[in-house]
Amino acid sequence: MAHFFYVHYAFPVYFKNVFEGHVATQMMNSKGRQDIALGTNYGNPDIPNKSHASYFGPSYMIDWLENESSGEKIETVLINCHYPVTSDSFVLQYGAMVKKLPGLTDAEADEMAAQFAAGVEIGFEQDVEIWKNKTSIDNPLLSEEDGPVYQLRRWYNQFYVDVEDVTDDMTKRFEFELDTTRAVSSWKQEVDENLAKMGAEPHAAM
Ligand SMILES: [Fe+2]
Repeated sequence: MAHFFYVHYAFPVYFKNVFEGHVATQMMNSKGRQDIALGTNYGNPDIPNKSHASYFGPSYMIDWLENESSGEKIETVLINCHYPVTSDSFVLQYGAMVKKLPGLTDAEADEMAAQFAAGVEIGFEQDVEIWKNKTSIDNPLLSEEDGPVYQLRRWYNQFYVDVEDVTDDMTKRFEFELDTTRAVSSWKQEVDENLAKMGAEPHAAM
């Protein structure tokens, strides 16, 4: 969950994982970071963005996103895939579609989609920096807000064995909802401090 605040500049308020079979899903409601302007956090800061992202296997994700702007529902689909091409490198591809709002011209709709895609690109560039510099730790010491990392690894293990060796503990349904209370209060403080440094008024409703 914290990854989305620090790396993707979102402000998660609800976060849940469901792993089942070959599908791993993450449901997140998040607000935009008031201290950072991004193409992905347009819209009303008081209405959370809804994200329902599922990995279908380890390399292919579809993320259904919902936001609201001026009373209009904005629906976006983000697809990304990353597949290994050598033992230490992979190809990353992604694309985004934003549903055209009634009343928008083609040019305005294109502009909205381009803004969103640019925001996604900034997020991915930050992921890539992490991927270039991180290494695998077998027994990480986790904080509560890190979420079910060990359970995710059990799910992931099914893709490292032959199909006949896939076991129940890799595929059985697992659900976990993170308690965001503590993170939300400390992040609110962090955002307010950043806004104060910028000389802006903190957003009251955050
Ligand atoms: Fe990321």
